[in-house]
Amino acid sequence: MITFVTNNERETFELGYKIGAKLKKGDVISLNGDLGAGKTHLTKGIAAGLGVDDYITSPTFTIVNEYMGRLPFYHFDVYRIDDIYEMYEIGFDEYLYGDGVCVVEWGDMVEELLPKDKIYIYIKKLDDSIREVQIKGLEGEV
Ligand SMILES: Nc1ncnc2c1ncn2[C@@H]1O[C@H](COP(=O)(O)OP(=O)(O)OP(=O)(O)O)[C@@H](O)[C@H]1O
Ligand SMILES: [Mg+2]
Repeated sequence: MITFVTNNERETFELGYKIGAKLKKGDVISLNGDLGAGKTHLTKGIAAGLGVDDYITSPTFTIVNEYMGRLPFYHFDVYRIDDIYEMYEIGFDEYLYGDGVCVVEWGDMVEELLPKDKIYIYIKKLDDSIREVQIKGLEGEV
């Protein structure tokens, strides 16, 4: 596990960018942490690092937003699902085992559906603007 501390939103974005630049086809990121921890901000950086030019918004009500960068990029937010069958309905497996990269905000909520071989990120609020970002399963240095 590697741990980073970010002091503001921009540093979280930049960390995300470095992660995004390293991602490979088929990578799945389970992204966890309390409400307002910075999951979506980290995801914006990941998307930018993957070469996505679009403005990233949280897919809270749609479950998934799809983008195209150097690889297809699928951004999930599963916070509001009532049960995991909603994930079968949207064809979650096809995204997970497809040719893109998936980031799943609140991934722990659908843990049993995620591949064993995944990247796990946990963001902890240390202070108003300070975050600890723990990363497991990402190959190489960030
Ligand atoms: N170091 C930091 N990194 C990221 N965000 C920060 C940081 N410091 C303060 N913030 C603020 O914390 C909030 C993070 O919001 P964000 O939507 O990214 O969180 P989230 O984890 O996706 O929340 P949710 O669970 O509602 O989806 C923003 O208002 C942002 O400005
Ligand atoms: Mg969010």
